[in-house]
Amino acid sequence: MIEVVGFRYCRLGTADLEKTVKFAEDMIGLEVVGRENGCVYTRGDDRDHNICYFQGDPTNHTLGLELAGFDELDAAESNLSAAGLEVNRGSDAEAAARRCMGYINFRDPSGNSIDLTVRPFAAGHRYFPGRDAGIDEFSHIGLAVTNPREAEKFWSEMFNFRTSDWIGWSALMTFDAVHHRFALFPSDKPGIQHINFQVRETDDVMRSNYFLRDHQVRIQAGPGRHSLSGARFLYFYGPDNMIYEYSCGVRMVDDSWRARQFPVNDASFCAWGSKPDLSVLEDTDTAE
Ligand SMILES: [Fe+2]
Repeated sequence: MIEVVGFRYCRLGTADLEKTVKFAEDMIGLEVVGRENGCVYTRGDDRDHNICYFQGDPTNHTLGLELAGFDELDAAESNLSAAGLEVNRGSDAEAAARRCMGYINFRDPSGNSIDLTVRPFAAGHRYFPGRDAGIDEFSHIGLAVTNPREAEKFWSEMFNFRTSDWIGWSALMTFDAVHHRFALFPSDKPGIQHINFQVRETDDVMRSNYFLRDHQVRIQAGPGRHSLSGARFLYFYGPDNMIYEYSCGVRMVDDSWRARQFPVNDASFCAWGSKPDLSVLEDTDTAE
């Protein structure tokens, strides 16, 4: 069992780096904390960075998770290799570009690129937002998987991820007290489906709803309230059609929590009655 102890970063290729960075600062409210070797590091909390953007293929996505130390990294490398996965250990220069002391990279059974990092950097400066969106924390992602049941099995058997709830075949999974750190979305290709930042309160969600609409940002869903996690949410499109989410009030779960099965319908997605795009959840291949 590989024990994840932290949820750290995304690395995202983008077709137009400057346009994307401007959107991240001016619309999402992220802080640009560094530019090095074609990478722009941004964040919405006090950690070193949350999203690293680079000029490149917009489907090139990596999720960075944290392990406790180098012994755990060695063990993870052995475990993943024994499971038949190709594992690559990053060079010192590659680790420096990920702002950590060491890491390995592998692809999950869907082909998602995952970094397992050790001692990712903290920051001496507090987060200073590009705009006051009320962001508290980089909190979870939607992960596109080619087979949700196989993906859930992989992440719960190889790793310490556990399922908090299901909607259809999609599991919302976590390794800590937050209801979900990723939600599995059925897809014909891997990648990061959306990126969530927690904001302080419902007022922040609603302020951004009007702010983004005023700035002609395309809203994907919401404002609404997730029936599974209880969070108030707003989803919107950024450059490269990446979906970003603000939410607040996500449910905390402990060992006594028992996962619930929700059907795929509007009420499972939003308790307030907003109309989501449920096509992202339906997967006829695995729903037989
Ligand atoms: Fe989400």
